[in-house]
Amino acid sequence: MSSLPSLAVQLGPLRLKNPVITASGTFGYGTEFLPYLDLGRLGGICVKGLSLAPRLGNPPPRTCETPAGMLNAIGLANVGVEEFVTHKLPPLRAFDTAVIANIFGETVEEYAEVARIVSAAPGMAAVELNISCPNTERGGRVFGCDPDGTRRAVAAVRKVCPLPLIVKLTPNVTDIVAIARVAVDSGADILSLVNTFLGIAVDLDRRRLVLANGVGGVSGPAIKPQALYLVHRVCSAMNVPVIGMGGILTARDALEFLLVGAGAIQVGTANFLDPAASIKILDGIGEFLAVRGIPDVNDLVGALESRSPRAEFST
Ligand SMILES: Cc1cc2nc3c(=O)[nH]c(=O)nc-3n(C[C@H](O)[C@H](O)[C@H](O)COP(=O)(O)O)c2cc1C
Repeated sequence: MSSLPSLAVQLGPLRLKNPVITASGTFGYGTEFLPYLDLGRLGGICVKGLSLAPRLGNPPPRTCETPAGMLNAIGLANVGVEEFVTHKLPPLRAFDTAVIANIFGETVEEYAEVARIVSAAPGMAAVELNISCPNTERGGRVFGCDPDGTRRAVAAVRKVCPLPLIVKLTPNVTDIVAIARVAVDSGADILSLVNTFLGIAVDLDRRRLVLANGVGGVSGPAIKPQALYLVHRVCSAMNVPVIGMGGILTARDALEFLLVGAGAIQVGTANFLDPAASIKILDGIGEFLAVRGIPDVNDLVGALESRSPRAEFST
C-alpha cells in the first residue's frame, strides 16, 4: 500500500486523530507519562476523575494484584476541578491530543457544577461522566446502577455542558442496554464502557479482606471477555458512538473492540504494566491495517462477521 492507513475517527461531535485514548485513573493528569511517550501522538487523554473539592480517597491498601489484572478502591482521589483547570490542564494543551475531563459528583448538583467549570476551560475536547459514583443524597446508591440516577445526572450535566458529552457506564447492572438508552435519551453524545467490575480479595493468613475499603473494582485482562460482550451488546442494540475498554493490553485486543462496534478504545490497567503501552497499541493498530491493506481504521468498526451471541445461553 502506498499511503499510510487513515486512523482518524469521528464519534458523534468528537473528532480524534486516532482511536487510542488513555483511560481515566490510569494515566494521572497526563504529564506524569512524559518520560515514557509522546503525549501528542495519542488520540486522547482522559484524566483522573475530577470532583468539586479535592479528595484524598480511601486509606491504603487500595490496590492489589489479581492473577489477571488488578483490584482497586482508590476512592476517587483527585486534586479537585479548580486545581486541575488552573495547573494541570495548561501544560496538556501544548500537546496535539484531545483532553477529556472525567468528572463525578456525590449529588446531581455537584455533577453539574464540575461540568460547568470544565466546560468553560479553554482547550477541553470533551467531558466524560463517570456515573459509577455513589449518590450521597440517596443512601450511597450508585448513579449509574439505576435508570433514574443515570437520567438525573446526565440531564443535569447536559444542560451546562456544550462540549461533546461521553457517559461512562458501569458493568455492575443487570441490563446495560437499558441504562445506555436512558443515558442517550438524557443527552449523551457518546457512551464509554466499561468501568470496573465489583470484586474482593481475601488475605487467607490474616483472615481479612485485602483492600482497606473491602470491596474494589476489577480491571485488566481478567475482564476483557465481559467488557467485549457488553460493548457488543450495546453496539448491536443501539446506534450510538461507543468507546470500548476493559483489559486492552495489545493492539489485537483493541482491534477486537473495534470489530464489535467501538469507534475508539481506552487503555487502562496496561499503563501500569508498561507506561508506553498506549503508543505500542497505536503503532500495532497502524501496522495491522498496513499489513492487511486496510486503508482506514473505520473499515473495521462493527465489521464482525459472525452472528450475534444469543441472549440466552447454557454452559
Ligand atoms: C487505579 C484505577 C483508577 C481508576 N479511576 C477511575 C476514575 O477516576 N474514573 C473513571 O471513570 N474510571 C476510573 N477507572 C476505571 C478505568 O478508567 C477503566 O474503566 C477500567 O480500569 C477498565 O479498563 P482496563 O481493564 O483497561 O483497566 C480506574 C481504574 C483503575 C485501575
